[in-house]
Amino acid sequence: MRGSGGKTGAMDVEVRKLRPEEGEAFVRSVAVPFLSPATGDPHELAEDQDRVAKTETDRAWVASDDGRFVGNACIHTMDLTLPAFPDRACPVTAMAGVSAVGVHPTHRRRGLLSRMMAAMLDDARAHGEALAGLIASESIIYGRFGFGHATDMAEFTINTRESAFSNPAPHLDLQLLDREEAAKILPDLYDRQRRTRSGEVSRNQQVWKEVIADPPNRRHGGSGVFFASCDDGYLAYRAHDANVLRGDLPRITVEELRGTTPEVEAALWRFVLDLDLVGEVTARRRPVDEPVRWRFADPRQLKVTDVVDRLYVRILDVPAALEARGYRNEGRVVLDVLPPSASLGSDDAASGTWVLEGGPDGASCRAGRAGEEADVRLTVTDLGSLYLGGFSASLLAAAGRVQELTAGGIEAADSLFATWPAPLTGTGF
Ligand SMILES: CC(C)(COP(=O)(O)OP(=O)(O)OC[C@H]1O[C@@H](n2cnc3c(N)ncnc32)[C@H](O)[C@@H]1OP(=O)(O)O)[C@@H](O)C(=O)NCCC(=O)NCCS
Repeated sequence: MRGSGGKTGAMDVEVRKLRPEEGEAFVRSVAVPFLSPATGDPHELAEDQDRVAKTETDRAWVASDDGRFVGNACIHTMDLTLPAFPDRACPVTAMAGVSAVGVHPTHRRRGLLSRMMAAMLDDARAHGEALAGLIASESIIYGRFGFGHATDMAEFTINTRESAFSNPAPHLDLQLLDREEAAKILPDLYDRQRRTRSGEVSRNQQVWKEVIADPPNRRHGGSGVFFASCDDGYLAYRAHDANVLRGDLPRITVEELRGTTPEVEAALWRFVLDLDLVGEVTARRRPVDEPVRWRFADPRQLKVTDVVDRLYVRILDVPAALEARGYRNEGRVVLDVLPPSASLGSDDAASGTWVLEGGPDGASCRAGRAGEEADVRLTVTDLGSLYLGGFSASLLAAAGRVQELTAGGIEAADSLFATWPAPLTGTGF
């Protein structure tokens, strides 16, 4: 027993699958590590029911100490948008979306997360998922389990008075949507739009229910959300009060701005920047290579107010994962993939030597044969960082994470994994 101060050691605690009738107890357990104790408030109870509905009980795990839940984790079945081949929509592939990970403060640092993670990764392999992914509360936690930082997400703020475009956006007819209309129109638009940029994940009905309902705990002090759409895109934005008579102007937070082309996105930006009565617009969950930046007459006015690490990718099946994504440039690279630092007790099928050949027409990946020399050596964690093209082999080599074994190996990896636009994961899970 390590640092527990309690009565049980790690192995006295059972890690097991959730039972179908335990959904509510699971949701109550998840709240504890996230510092949100159950209060019994009626609106909280209603939100808990939504969380129960969102939990796939056959893909949820608990750590149970003498019948009391002290840890929890689950997988959402979803898919991930991958880099495209030239002139094609992005492909998608199944990803185990790891979520609701927590261990109660009474039972931390006794290996309970490690045991739940082992169970989840085994489950993902059993489901034939080549990838697992998650959004981390702390970036130090998951590298040891083979999850590599794969996407970043930015937030931008601009004073609307200084927001003239030098390259005008096309005019688009937008309509404001009530909640019922939004529920009908937005899911299809989202699904089209998310195939234009890798890193995005699918949303099921339950996720949409929450987006449309926009419960008070998602508003961060702002108004309820406005939805507006056109044929090829949509906006979701909210307002923050200000004392107009004193000369203060309300602020707008853009929760979502999605167009199937950069022109549509520019028109959506223009719409929100031209709202009357508004002094400042903050757009959340934006790509780091935001194209609209290059449309402003005075680009410095667009302030980068935040950039955070977003999706962490764990590659479970290297050939399946590498053959699923698109490649722009013809190339070949032999990868020597090392296991992650934490052993989870089962063989890590991702480690070994892999020969990747890819190009605009397709890709193949197979295990290396005797005598085939590797070009680069890296851990499966770092391969997760290269996978969506958000970070290059040469960048990771500069940080001492990727090692070149044959001359030109890093350059070959850079060329093969390169993508445009930068990946973005605008949807949390
Ligand atoms: C993060 C959390 C789930 C870890 O659970 P845990 O059961 O204590 O983790 P484990 O004991 O299996 O830790 C495995 C290893 O990771 C390390 N580790 C785990 N969490 C860590 C953290 N937050 N910071 C630094 N190291 C951490 C442990 O020290 C251990 O390292 P070791 O093998 O070298 O000893 C738990 O601290 C927690 O619930 N935190 C609050 C909620 C949260 O952030 N959840 C994650 C949401 S993405």
